[in-house]
Amino acid sequence: MTIQWFPGHMTRARRQIQDKLKLIDVVIELLDARLPLSSRNPMIDDILQNKPRLIVLNKADLADASVTREWIEYFKNEGHLTIAADASSGQGIKEISQLAKQLLKDKIDRQIAKGINPRAVRALIVGIPNVGKSTLINRLAGRNIAATGDRPGVTKGQQWIKVGTDMELLDTPGILWPKFEDQNVGYRLAVTGAIKEEILNVEDIAFFAVKYLSKYYWPRMQERFDLGEQPRDFDTPDEIVAIMEAIGRKRGCIVSGGRVDLEKASSLFLRELRAGKMGTFSMEAPF
Ligand code: G4P
Repeated sequence: MTIQWFPGHMTRARRQIQDKLKLIDVVIELLDARLPLSSRNPMIDDILQNKPRLIVLNKADLADASVTREWIEYFKNEGHLTIAADASSGQGIKEISQLAKQLLKDKIDRQIAKGINPRAVRALIVGIPNVGKSTLINRLAGRNIAATGDRPGVTKGQQWIKVGTDMELLDTPGILWPKFEDQNVGYRLAVTGAIKEEILNVEDIAFFAVKYLSKYYWPRMQERFDLGEQPRDFDTPDEIVAIMEAIGRKRGCIVSGGRVDLEKASSLFLRELRAGKMGTFSMEAPF
């Protein structure tokens, strides 16, 4: 099944972000620490041009910490200041305004040298749906900001949210879309719950996740579901089906005739995975 890439949404979002870029000094690009490339808009460099940018790998509390460290290196090598954060608990949030200022240091220093008192750094948060934009805005603001949204026909002035004394944030984040054309990107996003299960088949999503986790996080799978040896072959579906059946049996997903209800087992597996019951995990690694 091919997932649509929503060209209409893309164009609209791109224009909206480009309009906002004129108002701001720095962009905070939010990525999901578990799948930074899959949760990234492929046209982001083109959209943001040379606007100073801070990359925040959000939901780091759910990601494999060692893989997140590798991602930080990866983005640093690309020339981007990058940090890991957990917007829901507030971990890493304090550093965001400090780093945003650091990105503008030269400009701020020049203003000071000219005797100009630098104004607060103005920032825009951008990212794909569900990556944590609203959570981060609320966290930075220190209160719940009403979700205003960009409704057609409703004109409203830009609202600036104060973050401490030296940063201001646009209240409406820039929404971007990932690149759905690559099926694996769609599956990775679905595994983490970033896209709805109605779009992709739940069993397909769970099988994709079981295959990936069996390959890279076998001891956790083994421990949680009392599994035997790690499969040797990941290219044939049989071994992965056998694992899913074992998971289903372990969770009592049995239908008449003693067969495993694979759909139910798939849903349960994904729910446990997303709830962090199997510990932290990353769905892609840079090297
Ligand atoms: P968006 O504006 O980019 O669409 O995302 P939003 O802030 O609505 O966050 C989407 C979901 O991700 C929310 O969960 C939110 O709590 C969760 N979230 C955001 N940042 C983090 C993070 O750093 N770590 C973790 N673990 N979760 C994060 P939800 O299930 O939709 O709502 P709820 O569980 O908060 O009720």
